[in-house]
Amino acid sequence: MFIKYTKDNNKCVHCGFCETIVQCPSPDFCIGCEACFHACPEAARKKLVDREPRRKVRIMVNGSEFEVPERITVKKALELLGYRFTRFPREDAFFAPCLTGGCYSCSLVINDALKPSCHTGVEDGMVIQTNVEGRTPFRIVEGFSPHSVGGVGTPYWLKMSVGYIEVAAFTAGCNLRCGTCQNYHVTYNSSGLPLTPREAAANLTYVRKRFRVDRMAISGGEATLNHRWLVEFFKELKLLNRDSKSRLHLDTNATILTEERIDDLMKAGVTDIGPDLKALRVETFQKLTNIEDRELAERYLKTSWEAVEYISDNYYPEKVFMGVGIPYNKFIHPDLDEIYEMGLKIASIDPEIQVCSLDYRPEFRKRDIIQPTPEEMKKVKKTLEAAGLKKVIVQTSRGHIGP
Ligand code: FES
Repeated sequence: MFIKYTKDNNKCVHCGFCETIVQCPSPDFCIGCEACFHACPEAARKKLVDREPRRKVRIMVNGSEFEVPERITVKKALELLGYRFTRFPREDAFFAPCLTGGCYSCSLVINDALKPSCHTGVEDGMVIQTNVEGRTPFRIVEGFSPHSVGGVGTPYWLKMSVGYIEVAAFTAGCNLRCGTCQNYHVTYNSSGLPLTPREAAANLTYVRKRFRVDRMAISGGEATLNHRWLVEFFKELKLLNRDSKSRLHLDTNATILTEERIDDLMKAGVTDIGPDLKALRVETFQKLTNIEDRELAERYLKTSWEAVEYISDNYYPEKVFMGVGIPYNKFIHPDLDEIYEMGLKIASIDPEIQVCSLDYRPEFRKRDIIQPTPEEMKKVKKTLEAAGLKKVIVQTSRGHIGP
């Protein structure tokens, strides 16, 4: 069965997002890549079964010739040939977590260039190699700029100070589908220029020097998706910033941060990390992230909590600074019970871990919610402190309230 996506004219507001930020890889006919479906802020793309007859095209995969239907992605063609793609990294499958053409985790060598297989259509005579070893990885990264507030993994005493405290870059592509995505222009960007780790590290270093700060952060989208790219990026960043004042900061949803991946990143030079724990209960996690597959949601949620525990046991506080994020809005947590339970669980790992609760505001597809008031956020703070946490900060519309 083949899928195609069409515009739902009843919902489309002609904002232009699908023509500017999202780059359709095949504007003349849909190849079923999903990018516009996930990215449209109005959810104005319909999924339809495509029953039109298809010709066959010939492609070469790892030196062997195959015939596959036209008007499909390279990823779909390989799936038809028996290759597996997953949304949680595994040794025996290709990793395709964002499916919107931003993270380049699913990249293969296509006609001698590294291209995302989820966002590239098959063509007659196409030559595909699945071994990407030795090829420089790419990823769409943008927004290299100074910030006065920092991210989840920024220490509270800096968040409270005045002026720029950090420079940051943002990676395209995310494995979650949060209706409240606060950075959706980057998350769903498939039209940006893909950068090598060295190019991105050089850009961020330039911005650091220009704005005279010591902290350099990468966030998303979800920065950890393309692991090889990210490890190389931190290595390059460390090489370009050898002074003892420099801090290399990663903000992440931690949903695929396995122990091996954490070790790789720490070895590459990460000094500050901000895992954003979305929830404690899988039902809440699914409501917030729109991950429909319960098994996958459980895996993501479990991995994120285990990551915090592993970093605390092995790296924090001597080797890295860790600040944990918790989103808050009434639509996610109608009462504060789960917030309290999250506080208890973090306190059982280490009560000294900094926890920052973020006041989720109307954004992206979730514009029917109301941003929590500063008073509500103060209640969240009290709840987390009552659970035993010693360093709680909350983000409010009037700025951060610290411990
Ligand atoms: S999964 Fe293909 S670009 Fe992210």
